[in-house]
Amino acid sequence: MARSWTPSSWQSCVAEQQPEWPDVAARDGALAQIAGFPPLVFAGEARSLQASLAQVAAGNAFLLQAGDCAESFDEFSANNIREKLRVILQMAVVLTYSMGVPVVKVGRMAGQFAKPRSSPFEKIGDLELPSFRGHIVNDVHPNAEARIPDPQRMVQAYHQSASTLNLLRAFTKGGFADLNRVNAWTQEFVASSPEGQRYVALSAEIERALDFMRACGIDTENYSSLHEVDVYTSHEALLLGYEEALTRQDSLTGQWYDCSAHMLWIGERTRQLDGAHVEFLRGVGNPIGCKVGPTTSPEFVLELCEALNPAQVPGRLTLISRMGADKVEDSLRPLLHAVRDAGHPVVWACDPMHGNTFTAPNGRKTRHFESIVDEISGFVRAHKAEGTWPGGIHIELTGDDVTECTGGTDDLTSDDLDDRYETICDPRLNARQSLDLAFRVAELIRDAV
Ligand code: PEP
Ligand code: CO
Repeated sequence: MARSWTPSSWQSCVAEQQPEWPDVAARDGALAQIAGFPPLVFAGEARSLQASLAQVAAGNAFLLQAGDCAESFDEFSANNIREKLRVILQMAVVLTYSMGVPVVKVGRMAGQFAKPRSSPFEKIGDLELPSFRGHIVNDVHPNAEARIPDPQRMVQAYHQSASTLNLLRAFTKGGFADLNRVNAWTQEFVASSPEGQRYVALSAEIERALDFMRACGIDTENYSSLHEVDVYTSHEALLLGYEEALTRQDSLTGQWYDCSAHMLWIGERTRQLDGAHVEFLRGVGNPIGCKVGPTTSPEFVLELCEALNPAQVPGRLTLISRMGADKVEDSLRPLLHAVRDAGHPVVWACDPMHGNTFTAPNGRKTRHFESIVDEISGFVRAHKAEGTWPGGIHIELTGDDVTECTGGTDDLTSDDLDDRYETICDPRLNARQSLDLAFRVAELIRDAV
């Protein structure tokens, strides 16, 4: 008999990575406030995403999950949201056109605030401070007061998520994402680059194809799929109090959904089988993900699949591997093998970012573009060897012209990192590197399958 589940049953398990709120009454007050707010997403939308992910699990579609490592309260603007969406749409067009399969688009957006940390303290210069845990908890400024967890930040994160989601819905349904505008998504600083030129050539082909359809008498105006896209939201379900406060019962099915985002995932540091994060997410109806790092054993992955998706529902569970470029092929193959043999219909996605982070001599955390490509390449080889579908990628990017990851056609070096290093957490691909990556991924997968 399965143990019973409620939105608060996680509270009897050990919850790693929770902030120590100094004022528990203030925390409970903030959570009560959020519990009274409207849901951010609807159960039916989460079910649509799950149906699309089922297509990915079956090898008929590809998942592109992308956005900030940590969204920022300070960098919150329409521009910022639009530029990120623009890059995601461009990457999706490149992948769709080159691979010939639908691309399921999921943003690390509208809620991706909370950060797990390797250590509760960090050293900044001579100062030892409590770690920054994302703007939903504390502030990044290097002083002790800024690092005190403030529960009102959860309320602010809710409101920022609502505004972000509102704009995403407007952009994706209101004409901005129209395939007839595929060329207009190129930003100036991208247009002149080699990957920008490649994109311009591809978008010209798409425009010709649309002209051709119209010349054949097809009324392209009437196909909403040419004018609108679905972009879903996701984040790491780290702060379980916040997630519980947004968990609501769907009136249609009676099922509980975490209405803070369409998809939630469990991070590498919180995936203990008897831990609170697995307990919480096993009971919600949303499609869910779990990161799997290089220490994961086949036995563990099978237990995880059993815990999170005992009914083997296709699209319910996405396993996001983050092994490191040099380990991925060997570490992943036994996992693919075991999951395939057990018949679990999972989506396999590759996070090529978190296993390839290093600190440059100037102290900046960075990732090299070629290591990111190498990890995806090893991921694809592992799938080819096991006869499974390399279902998607999970990446950290921004639409801006930042200098956070080295390499790419600009050949950014670690000396360039100080120019425009703007992330509040992990280093992100800039718009040009992201577009370049989409072309490289499409080639890797096309060549392999
Ligand atoms: C992240 O996705 O930003 C993250 C912290 O990843 P992981 O849990 O894989 O380390
Ligand atoms: Co990150």
